[in-house]
Amino acid sequence: MTDSMPGQEGIKVSPDPCTLPVATQGARDYPFVMVMFGGAGDLARKKLVPTLFRPFRDNLLAENFRVIGYSRTGLSTQEYRMLVKESVIRHCQHPAPEELVEQFASHFEFISGHFEEDAKYGEIAAAIREGIPGIPPDVTSTLHYLAVPPDSVPLIIAKMKEHGLADGPGRNRIILEKPFGADRLSAHTLNQKVLEVFDENQVFRIDHYLGKETVQNLMFFRFGNNVFEPLWNRNYVDHVQITVAEDIGIETRGNFYEQAGVVRDIIQNHMLQLVAHTAMEPPASFEADAIRDEKLKIYKSFRKMPPEYIAQNMLRGQYGPGRLGKEIVRGYREEDKVSPDSKASTFMAGKFYIDNWRWSGVPFYLRSGKRLPKRITEIYVEFKQPPLKLMGSACQEAPNALCLQIQPEESIILRFNTKQPGVDNLPYPSMLEFNYAKSFKAATYPPYARLLLDCLRGDLTLFARQDGIEAMWGVVDPVIQFWEENPVPDFPNYKAGTWGPDAACQMMDRDSRQWRLFE
Ligand code: BG6
Repeated sequence: MTDSMPGQEGIKVSPDPCTLPVATQGARDYPFVMVMFGGAGDLARKKLVPTLFRPFRDNLLAENFRVIGYSRTGLSTQEYRMLVKESVIRHCQHPAPEELVEQFASHFEFISGHFEEDAKYGEIAAAIREGIPGIPPDVTSTLHYLAVPPDSVPLIIAKMKEHGLADGPGRNRIILEKPFGADRLSAHTLNQKVLEVFDENQVFRIDHYLGKETVQNLMFFRFGNNVFEPLWNRNYVDHVQITVAEDIGIETRGNFYEQAGVVRDIIQNHMLQLVAHTAMEPPASFEADAIRDEKLKIYKSFRKMPPEYIAQNMLRGQYGPGRLGKEIVRGYREEDKVSPDSKASTFMAGKFYIDNWRWSGVPFYLRSGKRLPKRITEIYVEFKQPPLKLMGSACQEAPNALCLQIQPEESIILRFNTKQPGVDNLPYPSMLEFNYAKSFKAATYPPYARLLLDCLRGDLTLFARQDGIEAMWGVVDPVIQFWEENPVPDFPNYKAGTWGPDAACQMMDRDSRQWRLFE
């Protein structure tokens, strides 16, 4: 729920919960061979394998598919299948019958080797050529999923080229994880390498935020209704706030996080995707490129930020030891594989502007951090006050606001003023609420599963395009560079379990605004 919006009782507008089919056809017509680079790693075990199980269980995958895990872990195919079963049992939300898990695992094979080893790419190429018994090669898709640390990507791409892994007769696709590159230049270089092997329409740069139901719903909400769009601009919107708050720390990812920090991990990708969906113009159609063209325009319209602006308006933080609920947690510098004097930022709050016709002068406040008091992702659009205080100058009306909560609740809430009952003329902030869980019995589909199905069907809409990725880096590169050149002396500067450093609130105070408060 949106904690700081009073009047929680709301008005029920949605019809009674209804059960909808999650999907009709899924990707049943697309037999595939998936090569999972890093197939025994963390991402594969915790996310990809359990994710693939979901459409398998729902009968949305083709009957014929093979997954070839490739990692340096020395496993046989039998052992790998055990690992697959374990990861499904441990990480799938709903328990599944053992025979089904067994059947799923039987689609998996394993090649053990280091990513440098040429001979292994030969084995992979042979496995791809072998295809799926009984299925013509030209209707088989080959998906190369690179579930590997970012620094292994260029090597694997080079080896794929050398060994012709993308040259088969069927549909060849590559799925690349974020962060894609480490700045604009490295992303450009990496894009060039990838495009030597694949065409742009074979490249699926995944960002799981785009697979989240509420993020997709933003477009339906904005462009499927006529009441909000006329207000969705500088004339009516006072400001936009986007929060991606996490209560978890960096868990076991010290190595990665030391390189990435919050900007490369969250802001450059998840956060800028949320901004683009909030701010973009209506696309010419619902086609992938029409949507991606509009998003690109947003990234290109971000106001350029000189160093003095960054110093004032881009605030960073790093968590120290603290308390989350009853648990005492250690600080970032005490986490595994983190340097005791690390300069990596685990928090950022910044004020951005999009200098286009629609948004000129409207601040977009973005905030994200680890070890904040709770996990919440929300887009909050606050509207300007009416031109006159007709109810009396002392009468405090809460501004109209629209709150799109992405997690943990998936909801849309509109705040508007009504009259408090009684003899006085007092306004009362009320809510209109739509909530996914209350409205639809069908659970929302896991983001990775939705994106994998899209990839099998060849739908690029929810994947980033080369120019979009590079333009997103163009937005954050000056911040990364400024921070690297000007390390802060006072890290850690917020306690785990708090809402970040004081400077983030001071920035809002200067603008006479407030961050959203979540209890
Ligand atoms: C990942 C980041 O992309 O997103 C993680 O690398 C972060 O650091 C995660 O924890 C958050 O995803 P979600 O879906 O839990 O908001």
